[in-house]
Amino acid sequence: MSQTIPAHGGTLIDAFVPSAERADAASRAASLPKIELNRRQISDLELIAIGAASPLNGFVGHDDYVGIVDKMHLANGLAWSIPLTLAVDAATASSLSAGKEVALTDEGGAILATLTVSDTYAYNKEHEAQQVYRTTDGAHPGVAAVYAQPDTLVGGSVKVISLPAHEEFPEYYLTPSQTREAFAERNWKTVVGFQTRNPVHRAHEYLQKCALEMVDGLLLHPLVGETKGDDIPADVRMKCYKVLLDNYYPLNRTLLSVNPAAMRYAGPREAIFHALIRKNYGCTHFIVGRDHAGVGTYYGTYDAQIIFNEFAPGELGIVPLMFEHSFWCKKCEGMASSKSCPHGPDDRISLSGTKVRDMLRAGEVPPMEFTRPEVAEVLIASMRQ
Ligand code: ADX
Repeated sequence: MSQTIPAHGGTLIDAFVPSAERADAASRAASLPKIELNRRQISDLELIAIGAASPLNGFVGHDDYVGIVDKMHLANGLAWSIPLTLAVDAATASSLSAGKEVALTDEGGAILATLTVSDTYAYNKEHEAQQVYRTTDGAHPGVAAVYAQPDTLVGGSVKVISLPAHEEFPEYYLTPSQTREAFAERNWKTVVGFQTRNPVHRAHEYLQKCALEMVDGLLLHPLVGETKGDDIPADVRMKCYKVLLDNYYPLNRTLLSVNPAAMRYAGPREAIFHALIRKNYGCTHFIVGRDHAGVGTYYGTYDAQIIFNEFAPGELGIVPLMFEHSFWCKKCEGMASSKSCPHGPDDRISLSGTKVRDMLRAGEVPPMEFTRPEVAEVLIASMRQ
């Protein structure tokens, strides 16, 4: 099917119960003990189900957990940077043992999947925070989510019966096998993946188009799982992406589809995770710019690029394309970075996120050198609602 690259670990996981067996599986699951998943865990379950988290076929057990947290590798030696975990309270944990089956439900009690327990284990939240997020500060949104979890982790493979329906833009939830098929149909041998949790501004567009000069296709792959409250909601962002693609992108070289993952704001570790996920979607290349997946001042501007040096050449199986901080230079009259532009900060159009938000809220269109007017209009309209 795919003409690009194999999934991470060699096999694209499909953790769904075959459709003919789903009704039976659901009625059997109804009598199993239940574990309720939160929104982030449901996103993780979806990543596992569709193979975006290949080779993971469930929530990680102890040995993989320790390998990921301490060495960024699974127990079998494969690179992996963020543990997908399922935390349960002590009472639930004590009722579970290896080989036992449980049903995983959403917050309304609907059955999503069954999990066959491999093990339950204690974990050290501060240690995970320090290793994965490089901070133990509970104000970090990813760390806060770890601290809020119960105290025992349960590992095990999952069999997914049904995922919650995507009410918004369902046609953009292509699975890895669907994006691979789309790449093959378009005859793209090389594809660059672009992660974003923001509207696409001129700097993002510049990175994507520089990359597109070197590869056959671009997968614009916004993350639409849970993000922190002040990030722009996914439905608004989708409108921005569509208007931008319609007006400024070669549609035969661009595919818009979404990544259902939740945002962890783990900076460097998340850059590796994002790259491996996009490899599973069939991307051969992945863009890493400045402060990728960062939040606040927890990470250095290029930490998310430097971390790629911790892996052997070729080990990740996807080529990171690193970009310096990009901006519009008034003297160059174009997008540039300090790698390509000799002028100083005074010649750059640089606006803080806060400043842009204030302008948009006031109905003011930011300079076209910062964001395309069509995108600004969508954002202004959304803030008026
Ligand atoms: S992220 O959390 O998804 O990384 P964002 O959507 O802002 O946030 O960034 C998407 C990608 O573009 C990331 O790889 C990020 O490093 C990169 N990026 C964003 N703005 C710039 C910029 N001005 N210069 C270079 N890279 C950038």
